[in-house]
Amino acid sequence: MNENLSQESTTPEEALLEKSLRPQYLSQYIGQEKVKGQLEIFIKAAKMREEVLDHVLLFGPPGLGKTTMAFVIANELGVGLKQTSGPAIEKPGDLVAILNELTPGDVLFIDEIHRMPMAVEEILYSAMEDFYIDIMIGSGDGSRSVHLDLPPFTLVGATTRAGMLSNPLRARFGISAHMEYYAEKDLEEIVKRTAEIFEVEVADEAALEIALRSRGTPRIANRLLKRVRDFAQIMGDGQVDRTITDKALNMLDVDNEGLDYVDQKILKTMIDMYQGGPVGLGTLAVNIAEDQETVEDMYEPYLIQRGFIIRTKQGRKATAKAYEHLGYPLPENL
Ligand SMILES: Nc1ncnc2c1ncn2[C@@H]1O[C@H](COP(=O)(O)OP(=O)(O)OP(=O)(O)O)[C@@H](O)[C@H]1O
Ligand SMILES: [Mg+2]
Repeated sequence: MNENLSQESTTPEEALLEKSLRPQYLSQYIGQEKVKGQLEIFIKAAKMREEVLDHVLLFGPPGLGKTTMAFVIANELGVGLKQTSGPAIEKPGDLVAILNELTPGDVLFIDEIHRMPMAVEEILYSAMEDFYIDIMIGSGDGSRSVHLDLPPFTLVGATTRAGMLSNPLRARFGISAHMEYYAEKDLEEIVKRTAEIFEVEVADEAALEIALRSRGTPRIANRLLKRVRDFAQIMGDGQVDRTITDKALNMLDVDNEGLDYVDQKILKTMIDMYQGGPVGLGTLAVNIAEDQETVEDMYEPYLIQRGFIIRTKQGRKATAKAYEHLGYPLPENL
C-alpha cells in the first residue's frame, strides 16, 4: 500500500476533522515549547499595554501546527481571526477588500504568505507598518491615489519556507517563530489526546510506536492513528495495541524511522541511480515524479534532520546512515 501519508493536501473531510482536533489555547498546545514560551510573553505584554500584538511569522514544514497556532494566538488575545492565503489574493483589490473588513485588534492570518503576488505584497508594507494603505483608483490621466486608514491588527503569516520571503516583507514581522519537528514524547501525547477525542483505547506502547513513525509531524500522527484504528476495528477487537499497530504501520509502508514510501524512494534513487550522490534536487524530483518544491518543503527537511541526507554545494548526498537503514552495503568512501 504505497499511500503517501505525508502528502500536504488534505481532503475536505480531513480538514473538518483537523479543525475538531485543534487545540484552542496555548496551554492545550502540545510541544513547541520555545515558540509557545516566546508567544506567551509577547501576548501578555501586548494585552497589558492594550496594544495589538506585533506581526508574527510562523515557518516550518507542513503539518506542524502553524494554522493551529494562528488560531491559538487569536484566542489568547481574545480577538477575531480572518483567514486567507497567498495564492488566494490575486490582485491588490483582493487584499484591500480583506483589510477593509478588519475590526480593531483582529488577527489576519495569511497562509502560504510566500506565494503572494508582488503587487499585493507591496500594499501590505504600509498596512503592516503604519496601518494605512494608498491605493490607485482609475487609470491613465484620471487616476488618483486614495489614502485609507486601517484599524490596528496583527498579521500572522505562515510559510513552509522562510527563504522564499522577500527581505522587506520579512523585516516587517516583529516576531518570527520557527516550528520544529516534534519530539517523540510530544507526539505520543498528541496521539493520546486525539485517541481520547476519537474515543478509542490506545495502549501506551502503541501510542509510542505511532509517535515514532510520524516523521515528527502531528498531522501524520493523527493520520496514522486513524488508519490504525480502522485496522483494529476490522482485524481485532477495536483496541489499538502494539501488535495491531505494528501490522497496520507495516502495511502502510511506514518504516521504523518514520520514513514513508516517498522518503524511502528518495534514498533508494540516490543510492541506486547516483551512487549516493551528490545529486541535484531537480534531478531527484524528476526521478521520483514529485515536484521540486514538494521535495524541498516536505521530504528533504526531515531526511536531513534525521541524518539520512546531507546538503553539499554539489547537491544532496546519502549518508552512511541511509545505506545502513536500507540494508545496503556501505561504499568505501563513506
Ligand atoms: N501542538 C499540537 N498539539 C495537538 N495537535 C496538533 C498540534 N499541532 C498540530 N496539531 C494537529 O495537527 C494537524 C495539522 O496542524 P495544522 O493544520 O495547524 O498544521 P500546519 O502547520 O498549518 O500545516 P500546513 O503547512 O500544511 O498548513 C491539526 O489537525 C492539529 O489538530
Ligand atoms: Mg496550515
